[in-house]
Order: sequence, then structure tokens, then C-alpha cells
Amino acid sequence: MSVNKEHKRITTQVLKEMKQKGEKISMLTAYDYSMARIIDQAGMDVILVGDSASNVMAGHETTLPITLDQMIYHASSVMRGIKRSLVVVDLPFGTYQGNSKEALQSAIRIMKESGAHAVKLEGGSEIKESITRILTAGIPVMGHLGLTPQSIYKFGTYVVRAREDEEAERLLQDAKMLDEVGCFAIVLEKIPAELAAKVAASVSVPVIGIGAGGDVDGQVLVVHDMLGITQEFSPRFLRRYSDMGDQMVNAVRQYIDDVKSEDFPNESEQY
Ligand code: KIV
Repeated sequence: MSVNKEHKRITTQVLKEMKQKGEKISMLTAYDYSMARIIDQAGMDVILVGDSASNVMAGHETTLPITLDQMIYHASSVMRGIKRSLVVVDLPFGTYQGNSKEALQSAIRIMKESGAHAVKLEGGSEIKESITRILTAGIPVMGHLGLTPQSIYKFGTYVVRAREDEEAERLLQDAKMLDEVGCFAIVLEKIPAELAAKVAASVSVPVIGIGAGGDVDGQVLVVHDMLGITQEFSPRFLRRYSDMGDQMVNAVRQYIDDVKSEDFPNESEQY
């Protein structure tokens, strides 16, 4: 098992060094204390409190409904479970796009009220002012380009982004801008692997991919998807490491049977 435990705590500086050394960065989502504790103990470099909580925790169809208060609740729970991982929190839809002062206030609330280490924002040049204002306050920012689920109603579909030259060039320029203004890392979601490799080679900061191929500096997945807890979502980029959804259903069924048959509790399970 190749978990590098050389670092007591993962910081944004450690991630930069990992890129320089060619050591891949592992990143996974978490939204609650118990899951964060397991993921941190396993040796994860970065935990993302993603706004995918809107889908996998709350059952919404998109990431749009989740609120800043709800993200702070998830992030605070995660923070109580970790010792080593760097924790990044998504700024939810509607809390940073309109106005950079509001963006800063949202980021400050996340940092103060949850104790997380960094924030992530979706978008490029259109949110440059918000990103730079947050950075000016000393808050580390992770960028997110390519498929940006908060803009799903603009795209209309979750298909691969930036296949055409014009969009690919815009994405490359946006990545360079995020690097230049001082973001500490960039997520690239669902874009051609060749373009992602070009971006990773063109910027100084780590590029973390999801559906962006292997020639980037790290990978991120949604924990419920890779554990097989969500079963209806199966894009090509998703590798399932467990069938926990089936295992949980079986365990719950067994418990129901044991209760009904009066097998549970037995002599040794009572006082
Ligand atoms: O919200 C999320 O989980 C994300 C990842 C898919 C990168 O943004």
C-alpha cells in the first residue's frame, strides 16, 4: 500500500511539493464525521466537502439547492473527524458568483465556522474578482474548471466538456489565470485526457482530475460513488472499489429477519 505518511499534516505547500516530486495526490469527498475519520485514517491527502452533498446526502437532483449553512454543517462535522488530511469546502451556488464582497463573506464564514483549510469555487475568468478577493484575505482557493455542475442549466447536459478547440483554449487560459492569481490547485472535471495533461503541464499548481485521465497530478471521486453506495450513477470515469450499497441492504435485511424471528437480541446481548 503506497500511502506516504511522511507528512504529519497535509498543507497546500505539501501538495505543491508532491506535484514537483511527481507524487500523485489522492482526494475524496466526505460530508460527515464518521466517514471523514475513516478516510483520514486511511491516509487521504485531501478531503473535499463537496456540494455533491446536495445529491448524495440530501437527495437533490443537482448541486444548486444546498445552502451555505448546510455546507458549514457538513464541513464542521468533517473537521471533527480528521487529523492529517487537508480539508477543502465548496462554496455553494449563489454565494460567490454575483459579487466579490459576498464571495469573501461566504468564504470567511466557512473558514471561521467550520475550521476548514480552504475553499473551492467553480469557474474561470467570470469569477476572477471573487477569487482574488478571497485570496487577498489569506484564504487558500482551489479552482474548478471543465464540467462545473453548478452551471448545469447553462450546459443543459453532463456530457464531456471542452472537446471543441475554442472551449479547450478558453479552459487552458482560465487554468493559467487561476495559477497566476494564486490558487493552490485546480480540479478539472470530465474533459478529454489530452487537454487535461496539457493543462497540468502548463500550470505550476497541482491539477486534480475527475474524468480527466491519468496525466494529471491527482484524482478525486465522490465517496458514495466509489464505495457503491450510489448505484444509479455510473459514468465511464468511475471505478467502484466496493459494493457497499448491496452489503448494507443485506445487513439491514438480516437485522430485520433477526428481529422478526426473535433471534436478536440473544442471551449475551442483554443485561
Ligand atoms: O462536489 C463535488 O463532489 C465536486 C467533485 C466532483 C470534484 O466538486
